[in-house]
Amino acid sequence: MTTIITVDGPSGAGKGTVCRKLAKKLGFYYLDSGALYRLLGLAAQRHRVSLEDGVGLSALAANMDISFDTSGPEATKVILEGEDVSLELRTEQTGALASKVAPHPEVRSALLTRQRLFAKAPGLIADGRDMGTEVFPQAPLKIYLTASIEERAQRRYKELLEKGENVSLRALEEQVRSRDERDMSREASPLTPAADAIELDSSELSIQEVMDTVLNLVYLKGLAKTIDQ
Ligand code: DC
Repeated sequence: MTTIITVDGPSGAGKGTVCRKLAKKLGFYYLDSGALYRLLGLAAQRHRVSLEDGVGLSALAANMDISFDTSGPEATKVILEGEDVSLELRTEQTGALASKVAPHPEVRSALLTRQRLFAKAPGLIADGRDMGTEVFPQAPLKIYLTASIEERAQRRYKELLEKGENVSLRALEEQVRSRDERDMSREASPLTPAADAIELDSSELSIQEVMDTVLNLVYLKGLAKTIDQ
């Protein structure tokens, strides 16, 4: 049996960190669906496919040569056409490319199959925007993780400062706002909580508090045998 837990929400709500930790704790697989949209954005740039060309992008999405290398001790390496693109993948520019390829319905349906292939026993933590609404609507536990725009921009600001990048907080807030706007207002699978999702606002919570809340839900629903918090 494969247990699927979906975690959706806007960028910067803390989904990535929480999902990776949850997957490790439960011994589940992890799907970072945003990485697929980011990879497609990069692939489109390399192959000079227009971000407006839904059909061209969907052909690229169905055939792109990607892999996730988890063999090393460090974070997962993401490989596109034989090249390690892990760093390029996480930049704001790549995030913006991803949110421009994501509205095309042809792209979303081409990526649907690829995403569903990640579901393997004992379970999967699926991280994204439409995991609970479109990709895994049958999931027994759906979380919608959010946080205020100010808090999400602030988190990103700290992260970038730590990496030695010089950025403006005001510009980051603007970027978060416009990405939300694009993700929530598109017609195909807009970012919205599934009707049966449990909403969690992480603005005032630590990663550990979010983890504990989700793990309690996992336990209450009997989705994992033993959980030692
Ligand atoms: O989670 P992320 O920041 O890596 O996602 C990048 C973009 O990809 C996001 O702005 C919208 C898109 N996306 C999506 O449309 N559906 C998903 N399931 C995941 C990401």
